[in-house]
Amino acid sequence: MKFSKGKFIEVVEKSFSESEKMPPESMLFSYRGILYPATLSSPETLEALKSFETRSDDVILTGYPKTGTNWLDQMVMELESADAKRTEEEEKERINAEKKLESFPRLEFGDPGTYERMKKLPSRRIIQTHLAPHLLPPSIFQSKAKILVLIRNPKDTAVSYYHFYNNMPLLPSFSSWDEYFAAFMNGKLAWGSYFDHLVEWNKYIDHERIMLISYEELKEDQILGMKKIAAFFGFSLNEEDFHRIAKKTSFQAMKEKSKETHGKFGDILFRKGVVGNWRDLFSKAQNEEMDRKFEECLGGTKLAAKVKYDVYCKA
Ligand code: A3P
Repeated sequence: MKFSKGKFIEVVEKSFSESEKMPPESMLFSYRGILYPATLSSPETLEALKSFETRSDDVILTGYPKTGTNWLDQMVMELESADAKRTEEEEKERINAEKKLESFPRLEFGDPGTYERMKKLPSRRIIQTHLAPHLLPPSIFQSKAKILVLIRNPKDTAVSYYHFYNNMPLLPSFSSWDEYFAAFMNGKLAWGSYFDHLVEWNKYIDHERIMLISYEELKEDQILGMKKIAAFFGFSLNEEDFHRIAKKTSFQAMKEKSKETHGKFGDILFRKGVVGNWRDLFSKAQNEEMDRKFEECLGGTKLAAKVKYDVYCKA
């Protein structure tokens, strides 16, 4: 879902000010054993989500938090828009329909009425979520919609989520990296365990309507990554489009525009945007613990090969 900038900033600021009055222990709620931010969602919304009706041309983007999902969203919105060649009038109609959703652009956010309002969005809808497969509405797998899954190496994801938890007003802070690290390893964070997500997605890796792409491969060669994404969704773009979009969605370009596009959330979201930042925080023992856990959960899988753990995570 593409948000009008003003609306997105309004929703962000409202949730930030609501969280100011909240004690840390009320900031998260648990639904089916997984934590979610209370200012953005509710058990009623997650119940209502089961009724969400997927369209066969929906573009579904998913990734565990901090794997670069906002970057991917922006890239895919630009790719879709270049392919769609909508008139100004059609674009306006799209933005107006999206304004009425009144929530952050994530499928699991908003009030329970969101899914009824989403029926009014014009196609092609771009649907973003952090949910693991077993929590997605059944219609997503029953439909012909394609799902793009974003993955990122666990060490950089952990570090990124640590800073996010401590800087995001609507999440409870951790008093130390060590305390946070234990929570990450035990899946005691919003959206649950990183490892469970990957183990679940690995089961779908050969599914023809599902494609995995990694943060690291997008960092290495964004144009090549975007070409794979466009081919998967059937978007037709020329060479110039790819270069224009790569420039527009570079970390620097997005960070520079973030006051305008994301308001206060921009300073929290656009942090470093690099591969390998985990080296600043992981101790030797934590490195070894993560290596063991990754091997235990995903060793020898196709998904592990895609993460390239040995390239990006070995001390
Ligand atoms: P860091 O905290 O390591 O800097 P998400 O969007 O899923 O919340 O992920 C946030 C991570 O993606 C952050 O990582 C952020 O800096 C990074 N990111 C955001 N935009 C990016 C871009 N255009 N290019 C590369 N990384 C980006």
